[in-house]
Amino acid sequence: MGKEQKTTKGAIGVFDSGYGGLTILDKIREKMPEYDYIYLGDNARTPYGTRSFEVVYNFTLQAVRKLFELGCPLVILACNTASAKALRSIQQIDLPQIAPWKRVLGVIRPTVECIGEMTTTRHIGVLATTGTIKSESYPLEVRKLFPDITITGEACPMWVPLVENNESQSEGADYFIRQHIERLLQNDPLIDTILLGCTHYPLLMDKIREFTPSHIRIIAQGEYVAESLQDYLKRHPEMDNLCSQGGTCRFLTTESEQKFKESASIFLSQTNQELKVETISLE
Ligand code: DGL
Repeated sequence: MGKEQKTTKGAIGVFDSGYGGLTILDKIREKMPEYDYIYLGDNARTPYGTRSFEVVYNFTLQAVRKLFELGCPLVILACNTASAKALRSIQQIDLPQIAPWKRVLGVIRPTVECIGEMTTTRHIGVLATTGTIKSESYPLEVRKLFPDITITGEACPMWVPLVENNESQSEGADYFIRQHIERLLQNDPLIDTILLGCTHYPLLMDKIREFTPSHIRIIAQGEYVAESLQDYLKRHPEMDNLCSQGGTCRFLTTESEQKFKESASIFLSQTNQELKVETISLE
């Protein structure tokens, strides 16, 4: 990695603990199909949402290093838990040492930037993993941009396992999805907008919609993250020049290739071709 030149072009890396980041990748590729992408899912060690700060930080740093080794000049942490617990340390401590000209971006800031216009009551709910809720990243970011908004969080620790284990249509899923939405709305009945603060949750969108009163708007992040990335590349031509444009997408997983292939195709809209999947190990 050290010998790599600042002018070497590479794919944009997209990282998540599992399949959730595919919802972000999908929207990014829809908007910017011309770039090359490498998606990395740490499926063998998912979920991250209930893990400690140190563990999430170490796992995320390993993934970022791997994507850098594979030549990515820019990595998107398409995971709120990793963005909440690891992004700042990686940007401020690790990046200057391992690759000062590369960049790592998260999903929380671009999501928060868009919510000011979405709410009339100025009461927003955030559904996310335990790690993201405990980190207080959403309230902290919202307070900076929209101090008049009241934000109430609800941790949904069972939702990621439901997605990862392909159980999203089960009765168990109904129970856990209804329970958390009811709890959130009991805690703040004025909520008119619910933000899905975990990239896995759009994969449960049908059920979330079913159990949420119809006047409440539900926001998934993919589109906003994709818009923000496009805008970032426009504002940073030096980074844009380092992102190769061959329209390819490679998939890496820490789990078995076959398992990833079967599940990922359920989550991606552009799967008319066989996915190229490789198993890797992170350390
Ligand atoms: N998809 C991730 C997020 O946005 C985390 C899922 C997990 O591993 O718990 O938070």
